[in-house]
Amino acid sequence: MVKKITLLGATGSIGVQTADIIREHPHEFKLVGFSAGKNMDITRNLIAEFKPEIVCVQRKEDAKDLAAEYPAVAIVSGAEGLIDIAVYEADILVNAVLGSVGLEPTLEAIKLGRTIAIANKETLVTAGHLVMESAKQFGAAILPVDSEHSALFQALNGEKKDQASRLILTASGGSFRDLTREQLKNVTVQDALNHPNWSMGSKITIDSATMVNKGLEVIEAHILFDFAYADIDVVLHRESIIHSMVEFQDTSVMAQLGTPDMRVPIQYALSYPDRLPREQAKRLNLAEIGKLNFQEMDYTRFRALQLAFDAGVAGGTMTTVLNAANEQAVALFLNEEIKFLEIEEMIERAMDQHEVIATPDLETILHVDAETRKSVKNMLK
Ligand SMILES: NC(=O)c1ccc[n+]([C@@H]2O[C@H](COP(=O)([O-])OP(=O)(O)OC[C@H]3O[C@@H](n4cnc5c(N)ncnc54)[C@H](OP(=O)(O)O)[C@@H]3O)[C@@H](O)[C@H]2O)c1
Repeated sequence: MVKKITLLGATGSIGVQTADIIREHPHEFKLVGFSAGKNMDITRNLIAEFKPEIVCVQRKEDAKDLAAEYPAVAIVSGAEGLIDIAVYEADILVNAVLGSVGLEPTLEAIKLGRTIAIANKETLVTAGHLVMESAKQFGAAILPVDSEHSALFQALNGEKKDQASRLILTASGGSFRDLTREQLKNVTVQDALNHPNWSMGSKITIDSATMVNKGLEVIEAHILFDFAYADIDVVLHRESIIHSMVEFQDTSVMAQLGTPDMRVPIQYALSYPDRLPREQAKRLNLAEIGKLNFQEMDYTRFRALQLAFDAGVAGGTMTTVLNAANEQAVALFLNEEIKFLEIEEMIERAMDQHEVIATPDLETILHVDAETRKSVKNMLK
């Protein structure tokens, strides 16, 4: 049976690679609807190739143009349009949109019991408890797309969770892994966008350089797999060949390995519980690689990772603050309004100023998110 796929964030790095997988397996998957932001070139190409039934774009004026060009396609726009895509009839919703804008569409799809392949980690960090509780209530499966979480998911597959003792996430270290904090003072946006192992969207590339990305992933792992923060470790692994590991109580460690290629975890989330061939993909050749390196994580050097653990342990709205402060600060950095190290300084200040609300509802989360962004912008003054 062909699985119908809807895709949020089709024009981004994960979105385009999801389209690659759908293209590679036309007898398995069909793209019935997608959302884009502002990139109309990729949007038009995707409409022409996949002939979806419904498309959402961010701006009303783009929606008007597309509706005139493609009368057979339902064209929607804005935040409500994202929800229209999320609830459109499909077997799997891939959420590859950027930022906490993905939260409400995810919750609406969960209410319909939809299977969700989630790349959009900000949604889990900002309101993970709401997502997981309602997924349980409505019987919706949440499948990880992030390579680390796909690795953990695979390593835990078929095991008894209470016999697993530790999650070990690997971190490449990002573009500045060999720089001291002193050297970080004057790095530029261009330097930060130059990731050694992965080609990704600009926000997550900056997040990798600050190590906030690994922090968001630690929180994502806590949410998805329900492990205490004390039982989640991060190890620096420069080559990004081991995507993450699970240690069991008998000291066995299960790891998932592969060449760094996001299409592998994307495809696994779409084909789960099956695996499909990837004829053209580069195979892992350990003899060619020769050596894998590991290094203990330095939480003073990578201050933002410590902040993420602190936010996770504080719980409640503190992870919403971490995420919103980071999204706002990264936007300021990409716009060259602040320096690189100011990203983590702003996150820390926003966290210091916040009083945690333990089990926030959606309204509280949206309020805290908006207020945090405002207060980070005000720090500029
Ligand atoms: N890239 C990776 O390898 C990777 C790996 C693991 C996890 N992730 C996670 O996957 C998510 C997407 O990352 P990415 O690297 O693919 O990001 P990206 O390349 O920046 O793409 C983001 C997508 O979201 C759309 N978008 C952005 N803001 C929007 C808004 N306000 N309303 C509607 N649509 C909006 C963009 O549209 P336009 O471009 O058309 O404006 C684009 O389609 C992130 O949560 C990231 O952490 C990414």
